[in-house]
Amino acid sequence: MAQSIKLPSPKTTGTMSVEEAISKRRSCRDFTHKSLTIDQISQLLWACQGITDTANGFRAAPSAGATYPFEIYLVAGNIEGLNVGIYHYIPKTHSLEIVQDGDFRVNIANNCNSQTFIKQSPATIVLSAIYERTSHKYGDRAMRYVAIEAGHIGENLSLQCEAIGLGTVMVGAFYDNKVKKLLGIAEEPLYIMPVGFPK
Ligand SMILES: Cc1cc2nc3c(=O)[nH]c(=O)nc-3n(C[C@H](O)[C@H](O)[C@H](O)COP(=O)(O)O)c2cc1C
Repeated sequence: MAQSIKLPSPKTTGTMSVEEAISKRRSCRDFTHKSLTIDQISQLLWACQGITDTANGFRAAPSAGATYPFEIYLVAGNIEGLNVGIYHYIPKTHSLEIVQDGDFRVNIANNCNSQTFIKQSPATIVLSAIYERTSHKYGDRAMRYVAIEAGHIGENLSLQCEAIGLGTVMVGAFYDNKVKKLLGIAEEPLYIMPVGFPK
């Protein structure tokens, strides 16, 4: 079994209001070289899919019938206290499992039509879905539900970035099969979000 890296507990209060985060949010495609902290990464992953109701297992973003089709991956390039590599986020334990060691920032950027700002960011978060979890309950309607849910998770991540002084951009232009191969996954990638300090 892959080694588990426990993440620090996320904060559930902050200094920026939701209104301010919404009004300030802008796509960021220019990042400084400053490293991210493990606290920041913990916060961002929690905003994507962290468990916010332990009794029921409900997560930070809504999900059709609580089927939770999404798996979250982290391409870590420059994070204090975390080796470069590709990691899988485990909501239940708020931890990371290593998928592959190594710096894959250039690879993920190349797989996104060479959008160069992706390789400059210290980390990139990939939202990928297992459609069957939702289609098992909702049939063909799952195609719609899963896409909607990607938006919920992506917006959570965008606003969380803004609230802690980071930037991101929703990337939808990428080669599905190349991203799947890089991450070593069978699920479908829907959104790719580089994160870091805006220049
Ligand atoms: C579904 C979707 C796909 C997107 N794909 C990309 C992308 O591949 N590359 C990129 O730089 N921006 C991408 N964007 C970001 C948009 O270009 C951006 O949101 C838009 O220009 C409005 O700017 P704002 O986010 O600053 O409000 C995407 C946005 C959405 C919603």
